Amino acid sequence: MKKYMLLVVTCFATQLFAQQQIKLETAKFKTGDNVEWKNLLTDDSQWGSIKSSTMWELQGFPDYNGYAWYRFHFFLPTSLKEKSLWKDSLRIFLNKIDDNDETYINGTLIGKTNGWNKVREYHVATNSTFLKWDADNVLAVRVFDGGGGGGMYGGVSFINMMDIIDGISMKLNFTANNGNIELHNALSKKVMGELYASVINPENNKVITNINKEIGLIANEKLSLPIINNINNRFIITATFKEQQTGKTLNISETTPYILTPLPSAFPKINGAKVLGVRPGSPILYKIAATGEKPLEYKVKNLPKELTLDTNNGIITGTLPKEGNYILQLIVKNKKGTATNNLTIKVGNVIALTPPMGWNSWNCWGLSVSAEKVKSSAQALIDKGLIDHGWTFMNIDDGWEKPQRDANGKIIPNEKFPDMKGLGDWLHSKGLKWGIYSSPGPLTCGGYLGSYQHEIADANSYANWGIDYLKYDWCSYESIAGKDTSLATYQKPYSIMQNALAKQNRDIIFSLCQYGMKNVWEWGALVNGNCWRTTGDIEDTWQSLSGIGFSQTKQYKYAQPGRWNDPDMLIVGMVGWGENLHPTRLTPDEQYTHISLWSLLSAPLLIGCDISKMDDFTLNLLSNDEVIAIDQDILGKQAHQVIKNSAYQIWMKELEDGNYAIGIFNLSEKYQTITVQWSDMGLKELTAKKVRDVWRQKDVGTFKNNFSTKVAPHGVTLIKVFDK
Ligand code: GLA
Repeated sequence: MKKYMLLVVTCFATQLFAQQQIKLETAKFKTGDNVEWKNLLTDDSQWGSIKSSTMWELQGFPDYNGYAWYRFHFFLPTSLKEKSLWKDSLRIFLNKIDDNDETYINGTLIGKTNGWNKVREYHVATNSTFLKWDADNVLAVRVFDGGGGGGMYGGVSFINMMDIIDGISMKLNFTANNGNIELHNALSKKVMGELYASVINPENNKVITNINKEIGLIANEKLSLPIINNINNRFIITATFKEQQTGKTLNISETTPYILTPLPSAFPKINGAKVLGVRPGSPILYKIAATGEKPLEYKVKNLPKELTLDTNNGIITGTLPKEGNYILQLIVKNKKGTATNNLTIKVGNVIALTPPMGWNSWNCWGLSVSAEKVKSSAQALIDKGLIDHGWTFMNIDDGWEKPQRDANGKIIPNEKFPDMKGLGDWLHSKGLKWGIYSSPGPLTCGGYLGSYQHEIADANSYANWGIDYLKYDWCSYESIAGKDTSLATYQKPYSIMQNALAKQNRDIIFSLCQYGMKNVWEWGALVNGNCWRTTGDIEDTWQSLSGIGFSQTKQYKYAQPGRWNDPDMLIVGMVGWGENLHPTRLTPDEQYTHISLWSLLSAPLLIGCDISKMDDFTLNLLSNDEVIAIDQDILGKQAHQVIKNSAYQIWMKELEDGNYAIGIFNLSEKYQTITVQWSDMGLKELTAKKVRDVWRQKDVGTFKNNFSTKVAPHGVTLIKVFDK
């Protein structure tokens, strides 16, 4: 099957629509699910008909969630192939689908993708035996909708031949210092063209390098051309490859992945949250997060007698039966020196005293998550040192359950998770915690089994496996709620699960996922939620990131230790929501904005990429302890928007030490010099204030009435202002 299937995430051709196309406008349509419906000869004469450009809700299926099939009948003329310059591959372009699809031609699977709001582009070799040239074919799309709008939507879907330019790919590849343009000819013939490339300094538009070169790429050739040898400044690299025969072009334009975070020192330094909330008698697992030249030796003063420290790896375990505050002194030593820091363990009713930090499988693996993939990201989190900066949770999202419960109603993990408890024990032995996902409805958003009417049984299973975090996703509960849109109905399933979790003998962070409905931030604490999603799903685009991030204006008052607004998971690194990952489409500046804004918002920080493939830029982005400290500040206040105009915004967060973190965001496409007036921030105007550049971890001076900074397009200057 694999050889026919090539899922392409980026769209290579610029003139996509110039060729002859077979339009996929109307399909035969039926709700329900039957694997036979993928086949060419299935009798669909009695099926209804539906347009592919609009969701099914608007075409006679207003409340339908679940499975449905589209069957497009199309004639495939050989003329399509003959008129094409490159005759090898057919493109099936499907517009957006809500939520997931599996797509077949004449019964053969050609691709599948999870997640709404994404176009699908599948490629099929023209000599595939299942294609019928000069005959009728059937493209069958099995769609699953977990809730909300459903089906195909967003524009025209079509089939056409791939062009020569589609067989060429061009990308930039960055190593520690250098940047190369990489061209690849995937065709079985030689391709000629011209390459124009330049490097400019966008601050003054000075051209640093210019290339204009004729290029011949033989069949399957990969060519690497050096373009820059210092990527630690903010430069823009643009390149165009013009294919000779058709004149069609490929274009790229990227900012160098410039790193701001300084290298960690060889001296020991203790990082991570300074407080841990735990209920009386619940198992404690706390890994002292510390950087510095290895080996590190760990010690703790004032360790309560009920707790044990593993001095080799800094993991504290045990249980504290009595309520109260326990102040421990953490000590980390290496041959360069000693670091000390206090950790307060607060034994009481509130957990998640700082926003949870870790990883979640969804934004990378989607429904294809497996125990192996979780382990490989966990191992990479340890090996790449993220664990030493306080990254702790490894959360499995949708896609882990078997379709049926056992005879006793117990949920069973599917074949991708052969030993749940074993996986958890392994993660715990490394000092990591872990989480799982379910829905209060009968099915999850991905069509897997939910917890409806099995809440206690599921909470028991989670506790038996040693789970530390549950994400509970509304989705098909919509079918239970029906037309009842009262607040009580929205709260009910979360209350039920919270009661089930409260009965367990361990702490399980409760993460509400219902996209902010009924202003969840106003009542999430009532159902004992530790965090609650405030928005729909995030994507790795500026539109999505800025749309979500900069609209978190109303909720800030509700954030406090143990209760966090959640603007969704991080979209940096290799993401993809399925088996095929791609580097985030955010520019480096947009990524600095992302991490700065999420930290100011006191958001849960859940990495959503394959950590085993994490590059240096992303690693440095996620390893800046001063930025992380803003997120993990124990006062637990969330930043609020102080200045907003069409070109920039300024957000400010009050910190536990009496000082402030301020994010100065440039929302425009151009460099801007932005001035922060202390008086606008409500700070004492006449006293000079020390300002620290948080990303660079450098004091930048003392400023009396205001502070000005030049900010890159879509970028940020994140400062700490010392007002105390
Ligand atoms: C919803 C959630 C996502 C993810 C998927 C899983 O879309 O918002 O974060 O959990 O479901 O199917």
